[in-house]
Amino acid sequence: MESFWSFLVCSIIILIPALLLHRRWQKSRSYRLPPGPAGWPVFGNMLDLGTMPHKTLAGLKQYYGPVVWLKLGSLNTMVILTAKAATELFKNHDLSFAERTVTYLMQSHDYNKGSLALAPYGTYWRVLRRICTVEMLVNKRINETVSIRRKCVDDMLLWIQKEANSGAKERAIHLARFVFLASFNMLGNLMLSRDLVDPDSKEGSEFFSAMMGLMEWTGHPNIADLFPWLRRLDFQGLRKKMDRDLGKALMIASGFVKERIKERQEGGERKKDFLDVLLEFEGNGKDEPSKLSEQDINIFILEIFLAGSETTSSTIEWAMTELLCNPKSMIKVKAELAKVVGPKKKFEESDIDNAHYLLAVVKETLRLHPPIPFLVPRKAIQETNFLGYHIPKNTQLFVNAWAIGRDPECWDDPNSFKPERFLGSKIDYKGQHFEMIPFGAGRRMCAGVPLAHRMLHLGLGSLLHEFDWEFDGHVTRETMDMKDKMGVTVRKLEPLKVVPKKHTNITEEVQ
Ligand code: HEM
Repeated sequence: MESFWSFLVCSIIILIPALLLHRRWQKSRSYRLPPGPAGWPVFGNMLDLGTMPHKTLAGLKQYYGPVVWLKLGSLNTMVILTAKAATELFKNHDLSFAERTVTYLMQSHDYNKGSLALAPYGTYWRVLRRICTVEMLVNKRINETVSIRRKCVDDMLLWIQKEANSGAKERAIHLARFVFLASFNMLGNLMLSRDLVDPDSKEGSEFFSAMMGLMEWTGHPNIADLFPWLRRLDFQGLRKKMDRDLGKALMIASGFVKERIKERQEGGERKKDFLDVLLEFEGNGKDEPSKLSEQDINIFILEIFLAGSETTSSTIEWAMTELLCNPKSMIKVKAELAKVVGPKKKFEESDIDNAHYLLAVVKETLRLHPPIPFLVPRKAIQETNFLGYHIPKNTQLFVNAWAIGRDPECWDDPNSFKPERFLGSKIDYKGQHFEMIPFGAGRRMCAGVPLAHRMLHLGLGSLLHEFDWEFDGHVTRETMDMKDKMGVTVRKLEPLKVVPKKHTNITEEVQ
C-alpha cells in the first residue's frame, strides 16, 4: 500500500511539470510566426526594403522559404512568395484575409468609407462589387460600348501620328503618356459620357490634373503608415497635398453628378453609362442602403480612374519594351495581326480572340511586370492558422505577384520574355491559376478584368498594327534600361521613348 502511495506521489511530481511543459510547448508551437529577417529597433525591417521592395522580398525566399514575416515600423506584415503558398491562401484562407489595410492618405475626405477597393468585407462592399460585376463591367455591357473604346483608340493613334510628324523627320514619342491619356478618356466616356482630356474642357483638364496629383501622392511611401503616432505631424506633407487634390477631384466629380441628376429630373435622355447605373441603383433598404449617396458616387468615379488608367498604360509600355527587345516576338505578333486583320482594316475588339500570339504577349507581359506587384494589401480579419503559423488579427498581407510570376517551380526560364509558353496553354490571369495573378484572386480580385482585357488588347493591337516601332536614338535592345520604379503602379523607371514609323505590311506567317 505504502509503495502505491509513493508511486502516485512520484508520478504526480513528474507528470504535472511534464504536462505543463508539454502544453507550453504546444502553445508556443501554435503561436509560431513565419520566419523573417531580424529588424532594427523601432523601424523593424522597413530600412531593408530598398526602392524595389517586390524584388528585395523575392530574394528572401532562399533564406526563409515561401512565407516571410516582417515588421514594418509597428505593422506586422506577412509576405507570400510562391505560387504554392498563394494557392493555399486563396483556396483555404481567402475569407480570413478579405479586408484591406487602409493607408493614412486614403482616409483623406473619408475616401476609404466610400471606396470599393478599400471597403471592409461586408454589405457595402458587396453592393458595390455586385454593381460592378453584374451591371457595369460584364461582357454584355462592355459589348455595348465598343464604339467608345474605338474612338478613344483612334484619337490616340492620331495624337501619336501628329506628335511624331511635328518635326522635319519622325520623332520619338513618350508612349505611356499617350496610352494613359487614351485610357483616361475611355474611362471618362464609359463612366460619365465625357471627353475629359478634351483641351477645350476646363473642368476636364482641372479634373485630370487633380487626378494626376492624387496618383502621385498615393504612390509615395508614407512614414505615417508605419508609425501611426506620427500622423498628426505629416512630416512629408503628403496628407496636406492629398487633402487638396482629392478635395478638388471630388468637387469636380460632384459637379458632374449634380449636373446629371438635374438632366434626369428635367427628363433628359438616359445615357446608360456607369453614372446612370449608380444613380439608378435601388437596394433593399434593409441590410443594404436603398440608394447610393452622392458622396459614395463621387468616390466611385475617382476609383475607376485610379484603378484603370495607370495599370493599363504601364502594361502596354512594358509590352512594347519587351517586344522591341525581342525582335522575333515583334515580327510574330505583327505578322499575326496582318493576317487576322488584313492590311487595310483596323484592329478591332472582335479580332482579339483570333490573335493568339497577341493574347500570349499580354499574358507574358503581365507575368513579368504585374503593375501592382503586392496586389492591393490585405489584412487579417481574425487570428488565422496559415501553413502551421499563427497569424495575428490585423496582420497586413502582401502577395508578391511579381515573385510568383517568376517562381522557378512553375516557370521554365522564368526571367525571359517568351510568349510562346502560353500558346496552347490554359493558364490565364482570371484568378484560377495561382502561378499568375496580376489581377489578384479570390473575393477581392480585380473587379475590372473584362474591361482591362479589352483595353489592353485593343490598345496594344492597334499600336502594333498601325505603326512599325523603333528605339529612339542610340538605344538598342542590349542597352535598353529595364529597371522599374514603384509608384501607384510599378512602371518603367526610364519612360519608353519610341519612334512610330509608317506601317509596312508583314505577310510572314506566324510560325
Ligand atoms: C492592367 C489592368 C489592371 C490590373 C493589372 C489590375 C490589378 C488589380 C489588382 C492586383 C487588384 C487587387 C486584387 C486583390 O487584392 O486580389 C485590383 C483591384 C481592383 N481593380 Fe483592377 N486592375 C486593372 C484594371 C482595372 C480596371 C480597368 C478597373 C475598372 C474599371 C479595375 C477595378 C478594380 C477594382 C474596383 C478593384 C478592387 C476590388 C475589390 O477590392 O473588391 N481594375 N486590380
